[in-house]
Amino acid sequence: MSQNGLEYGYCQKYNKKILLDENAECVHPREYCKFRPSCLINELGKENRRRKRAAEAHAPSLGTLHGVGVGPGDPAMITLQAVERLKKLDIIFASKKAGVEESIAHTVAKPHLPPAAEVRFLEFEATYDREAFDAQWAKNAKVVLEALKSGKDCGYITLGDPSLYSTFSHLARNLRKMEPAVRLEIIPGVSMVTAAANLLNVPLAIDGESLTLIPSAQVAPAHLRDLLRDSDNLVFMKIPSDAQELIKSLEAEGLLHHAIWIQKCCLPGQRVVKELNHEALEEEQERYLSLMIVKKKGMV
Ligand SMILES: C[S@@+](CC[C@H](N)C(=O)[O-])C[C@H]1O[C@@H](n2cnc3c(N)ncnc32)[C@H](O)[C@@H]1O
Ligand code: SF4
Repeated sequence: MSQNGLEYGYCQKYNKKILLDENAECVHPREYCKFRPSCLINELGKENRRRKRAAEAHAPSLGTLHGVGVGPGDPAMITLQAVERLKKLDIIFASKKAGVEESIAHTVAKPHLPPAAEVRFLEFEATYDREAFDAQWAKNAKVVLEALKSGKDCGYITLGDPSLYSTFSHLARNLRKMEPAVRLEIIPGVSMVTAAANLLNVPLAIDGESLTLIPSAQVAPAHLRDLLRDSDNLVFMKIPSDAQELIKSLEAEGLLHHAIWIQKCCLPGQRVVKELNHEALEEEQERYLSLMIVKKKGMV
């Protein structure tokens, strides 16, 4: 399967279906083809060849990075596959916000780790300054790359699932930039989104309904208004420390009473706030470990 998850591509010149695995290639790379500039098969073929060359140069010594989703926070909600994998790794990396004592992903994974497991922490500051954020993850990727170059198989544990707003993606992107031969294996985890919906006993979406995930702190008010109008169901993550704007937008669209705020889902201190209003928001302190589910057709 290709990096973007597609299984097959279509060669438009020769009307052919092509399997998009690590052997995918343009049907006739040396022939002129007017579709080439936008052809996924051709692009993927180039990328595969580049990876193979790099892998051949480093293969004997380079370890694999395993991105392991540990689930929403309850150690019982980590998958068997994740537990098995964690036992086999030489080094386990976990990220930790600068100045914060614990890594929640580590707290979740800890009961499943062998007593002698080597755990290393990667620090980062939560910032929306793209350059500063990238620089931190480039620095962290260097540390992980050193470990991989020494032939160690490494893991990076992340809350929820590695494919959803996870720092794992920033680590993986920077690693690949530094060393295209890096091999990645990803173990899915139960996401906060599905864990929270199931906690509330509500379907996230049914039949033909749409579902939109919104990183609230990074969406401009005008865009937010459009999203609120266009979606049947919404999940707000990354709720900003001043969430009054978000509440105002929900109010303006008549959706405040359709919103439920879930804090510390699957963690000690879990709370569900149903009657949302400005006052409730003032009283509640927990923002980072929280998300909001809005269902326009009601919570059934
Ligand atoms: C960096 S994203 C990680 C998402 C994760 N990879 C997943 O699959 O759900 C972090 C966001 O997830 C949500 N989140 C994380 N932990 C949570 C928890 N215990 N309860 C509710 N929401 C949580 C918050 O909205 C937070 O801003
Ligand atoms: S670039 Fe190659 S694979 Fe893509 S359409 Fe043209 S001939 Fe087919």
